[in-house]
Amino acid sequence: MTADAVPARIGGTAEPAGLSRLAVATLDANWEHDHTVPSRTLYPHQWSWDSAFIAIGLAHVRLGRAWRELASLFRAQWADGRVPHIVFNPALRVGAYFPGPDLWRSADVPGAPGVDTSGLVQPPVHALAALLAYRRVPDQSGLAALRRLYPALVAQQRYLAERRDVAGDGLVCVVHPWESGLDNSPAWDEPMAAVHAEAAVMRAYRRHDTAHADAAHRPTDLDYARYLAIVAAYRGHGYADRHLADDHPFLVECPLFNAAFGSAEHALADIARLTGFDPGPHRLRADRVTEALVRRLYDPVTGTFQPRDLRAGRLIGARTVLGLAPLLLPNLPARQVDALVVEATSARFGVAERMDRPLPSYDRTAPDFEPLRYWRGPSWLNIGWLVRRGLTVHGHPELAAGLRRSMIDLVAGAGCHEYFHPDTGAGLGSPAFGWTAALLLDLLAA
Ligand code: SER
Repeated sequence: MTADAVPARIGGTAEPAGLSRLAVATLDANWEHDHTVPSRTLYPHQWSWDSAFIAIGLAHVRLGRAWRELASLFRAQWADGRVPHIVFNPALRVGAYFPGPDLWRSADVPGAPGVDTSGLVQPPVHALAALLAYRRVPDQSGLAALRRLYPALVAQQRYLAERRDVAGDGLVCVVHPWESGLDNSPAWDEPMAAVHAEAAVMRAYRRHDTAHADAAHRPTDLDYARYLAIVAAYRGHGYADRHLADDHPFLVECPLFNAAFGSAEHALADIARLTGFDPGPHRLRADRVTEALVRRLYDPVTGTFQPRDLRAGRLIGARTVLGLAPLLLPNLPARQVDALVVEATSARFGVAERMDRPLPSYDRTAPDFEPLRYWRGPSWLNIGWLVRRGLTVHGHPELAAGLRRSMIDLVAGAGCHEYFHPDTGAGLGSPAFGWTAALLLDLLAA
């Protein structure tokens, strides 16, 4: 389907039962022995935060698979606690995805698992996913699954706290735009401009994504050349993290990543309480992360959270949807909650009880807003889901309901696409996308 061909309602799927059937069929078709692929074409392996969102949806319809999804991801956890952002399916041919195992070379790194993985991480939304999966059916087998995952989830947080707090300020930094999950967000334009690379480098490689999606909807060749340069720098140090402060080209404290990091401690406190561990240290850490986020990333002038570029030593000015993510934190002070509600309901993001357009990934009033290109404008269900959750937690049920409705309408209009045109709602990127299907199921049940 092309970007400008806006489908009317997909035949018979506008009513909840039809939508739910579409979502389940999408998840079933993407199921691959012990995990769900985000997309059979664009992303044929296992992705970290995709698996968390997918588990949240699977818990509604295929509970056993929800637990298997998380378990298979954590089987690929490195000895240092990092949960890799891609776990490669060894049954697929090497060229099935770029960049594949030959770029990461995880097998050469002591402490990496037996299966090939990337060396990067993604926002840690997994503890929240595990808690929500348990709450769907809070029985003994759910408790057993939580008990099995708890040490791995704690190790994931410990890796981030001990190895990625490069500034020593209580916040985690991402070392690659891929770690933020919002690869080519305008938030990364400033720090990326300082990464030395040339688009011509990409002539030596064959990008796989542009064979399956319109190149105008994806990051550019120059973005990719820089992505590869940053991977090469990190891999050159064996992904060891000790060198980061002195010698790494991209170091950013991201509001969404840190909101997920803090929210994971809240979820772990609940999981600890349920499974007989001590919730106290998790609550303490959750408070510290929120305090650090407010102190380091909240900008009272813009009234939103901005990423901090540690290389340049300053906040990044672009107003992206990343800034709304701290709403996820139940202990966010009222002053910041109120400011984020103003930001969310502004013309930049347009959240309302009755939304006329979906939530964009970037300030829609910005001159460089690009409605078709990946994270530079299009609407994504995982971000809307996180913001909706935050609005609910902080007592804004009408706005949360408006956002929920707009997300359901997107899928009713275009199917389970990866992302959507932020004006027309047309489906973009990959069709039959895992987390869109999964989160739709969760929204329909809410
Ligand atoms: N999101 C990246 C991609 O587009 C990988 O993590 O391939």
